[in-house]
Amino acid sequence: MAVDYTTHDGVAVITLNNPPVNGLGLSTRAGIVEGIERAQDDPAIKAIVLTGAGNAFSGGADITEFNTPKATQEPTLATVIKTVESSAKPVVAAIHSVAMGGGLELALGAHYRIAAPGAQIALPEVKLGILPGAGGTQRLPRAIGLEAALNMIVSGAPVMSQVLAHSGLFDELEGELAEAALAFARKAGAKEGPHPKVRERKIEHPNAEGFIQFARNSVAVLAKNFPAPLKCIDAVEAGVKIGFDKGLAFERECFVALVQTPESRALRHAFFGERAASKIPDVPADTPVREIRQVAVIGAGTMGGGIAMNFINVGIPVTLLETKQEALDRGLATIRKNYEASVKKGKLKPEALEERMALVTPTLSYDDLKNADLIVEAVFEELGVKEQVFKRLDEVAKSGAILASNTSTLDVDKIAAFTKRPQDVVGMHFFSPANVMKLLEVVRGKQTAKDVLATVMKLAKKIRKTAVVSGVCDGFIGNRMIEQYIRQALFMLEEGALPAQVDRAIEKFGFAMGPFRMSDLAGNDIGWAIRKRRYHEYPEMHYSKIADRLCETGRFGQKTGGGWYDYKAGDRTAHPSKVVDDMIVAYSKETNTERRKISDEEIVERLVFALVNEGAKILEEGIASKASDIDMVYLTGYGFPLYRGGPMLYADTVGLYNVERAIRRYASRPNGDAWQLAPRIAELAAQGRGFNG
Ligand code: 3HC
Ligand code: NAI
Repeated sequence: MAVDYTTHDGVAVITLNNPPVNGLGLSTRAGIVEGIERAQDDPAIKAIVLTGAGNAFSGGADITEFNTPKATQEPTLATVIKTVESSAKPVVAAIHSVAMGGGLELALGAHYRIAAPGAQIALPEVKLGILPGAGGTQRLPRAIGLEAALNMIVSGAPVMSQVLAHSGLFDELEGELAEAALAFARKAGAKEGPHPKVRERKIEHPNAEGFIQFARNSVAVLAKNFPAPLKCIDAVEAGVKIGFDKGLAFERECFVALVQTPESRALRHAFFGERAASKIPDVPADTPVREIRQVAVIGAGTMGGGIAMNFINVGIPVTLLETKQEALDRGLATIRKNYEASVKKGKLKPEALEERMALVTPTLSYDDLKNADLIVEAVFEELGVKEQVFKRLDEVAKSGAILASNTSTLDVDKIAAFTKRPQDVVGMHFFSPANVMKLLEVVRGKQTAKDVLATVMKLAKKIRKTAVVSGVCDGFIGNRMIEQYIRQALFMLEEGALPAQVDRAIEKFGFAMGPFRMSDLAGNDIGWAIRKRRYHEYPEMHYSKIADRLCETGRFGQKTGGGWYDYKAGDRTAHPSKVVDDMIVAYSKETNTERRKISDEEIVERLVFALVNEGAKILEEGIASKASDIDMVYLTGYGFPLYRGGPMLYADTVGLYNVERAIRRYASRPNGDAWQLAPRIAELAAQGRGFNG
């Protein structure tokens, strides 16, 4: 049973009991209505308390029911709230921990609300691409005022109950919630009805129309590509202009339309994808984890410093090891500079700077690593250097310490084999800047122990990363796929496009930065070095050599004042380069490639389907265990547009039948050998299915 019903001296307590967050799925909704009716029928009951068991009052509507028959099956949430609101006996919502979305809307339907301090209160629907669909846009402005409510609805951000103590939302804020709610209910039950309803309150504002227009203008700029935030404003405005009942009907209309949009589907996919990523099919949730109290980082370069900051930020002390004092000093200075920048921006309290710096212990000696529970290596990307480091770590690290490598291209199994404890070795592939980027690829070696994986996944959550497990392969999930994307971008230059056109097309699709602007930012020499190795390792693979030609002229990107684009000193704006464009045209001529007009649609298809095709192979090979893991890598590490949900969900939206046809078409054209259709795409397309079911 998803709802418990108990009585306490004239008060009925209806307790939502639907772990993990008391989601308002069908059985919970039915249970609440049943409870309210039972209480009406019992003459001994004078008042009702509505509360939640476990760690939430309620996390809101059950998102898994969206777009299924259960979502609209009676009693709907609207019916439940109406039942609560029209109860002749007063209903007191006793709120603790979390009251979000439909959970808060339910509480707003009660006659009285008591909250425990520390409860998170939110209408986060906008983050799922929808708006509050059970009266939130109508009742919250009546409860806490237009401006505060609109802020909460449009941002979706949680507000602590104590901050709302005097907002008009709560009748009382009480630490001893259960007892306080019973006492309050008894008093309320002794009073004559009718009991107050939020819907009957007025929205007071000196210039509601002006404020709403101001909000609309501000939101329009920020909400590009997401329809929900503006709809939130429309719905709140409706409540102000046409009254509660019509406003409620309008809100419902907007909800029904938004829940079917691809943007909402994408956001819900990302919500569940993030949570699913932390679950590894053959590593049970109750796998014991190792305790991580002390971390060491080897190498204080670009990555090492950022990696160290992740741990320091959550209070875990870090020992930072380098080979030379200068390198150590440089690394520490960069960490300090980053914290100073945060202080300047007001993101970090000045006194916290020294506290954080005090958590770093610099060293040149491996002896100082013997107490570390986790050691993350971030030295030069050369197998010989990794070998030296891991052999030394094997000698000094304590038994049970986790030995992680931040390698981006090397074989984690080979690195593990440098030690006598391959079960303790794992890849932790952070992205640059490591203290900022959300993504962490956790690379599972053949022998990586399950408890090592479980520990690293738990730790990732603590340092607020989205961790995705990848098997061992060249480039892991993200870089292996991006290689095919870049390969296509370069082929298209040969065939007739120019860098600015390619970037413009894919940026219009929603990528934060196109491949050429990105490459100029990262440094074209990095890709060059990787390609040189590739030519050697995969001599049969067909690559365009056009980027090598650019690098041979020393145009490494922003750092050299020119790459695919020209740059003015001290300015990151990319200006199309006549020299480079001429070089591209000359290259086509040299290679006897007839240049043609390439449409933006072709650019987007070739870039995105290159990701999808490689992603499908990664799934087939078991390098990623689910399609949503691949999407999470792309959403959190590669700037794929969130409103499209990642490459694999996007492919599902287009339809795999169409993806397959496009890939076959490109495979039959010049440079078509780069397209080897992933059998998984053909299989799923034949079954009329997508990567996500
Ligand atoms: N529906 C279905 N499942 C939900 C859910 C919901 N509303 N909220 C959380 N869950 C599930 C998660 O998927 C996860 O499942 P798993 O264990 O199988 O992975 C589990 O509950 C625990 O979630 P978290 O890992 O996120 O737990 P936390 O303790 O870190 O956070 C929370 C709890 C703050 C409630 C967070 O889960 C959250 O923000 N949930 C979403 C809240 C939300 O968006 N509510 C609005 C729903 S839409 C709505 O109400 C429409 C209405 O207006 C009509
Ligand atoms: P870097 O060159 O900036 O830093 C490497 C640091 O390691 C230098 O400070 C160097 O002095 C130190 N070092 C070298 N040998 C050492 C040894 N034997 N013992 C201790 N310290 C030693 O390199 P970067 O960019 O930080 O890369 C480090 C690792 O992270 C590489 O494996 C790289 O592939 C990986 N990586 C890099 C990313 C990037 O964007 N730069 C992204 C993800 C992973």
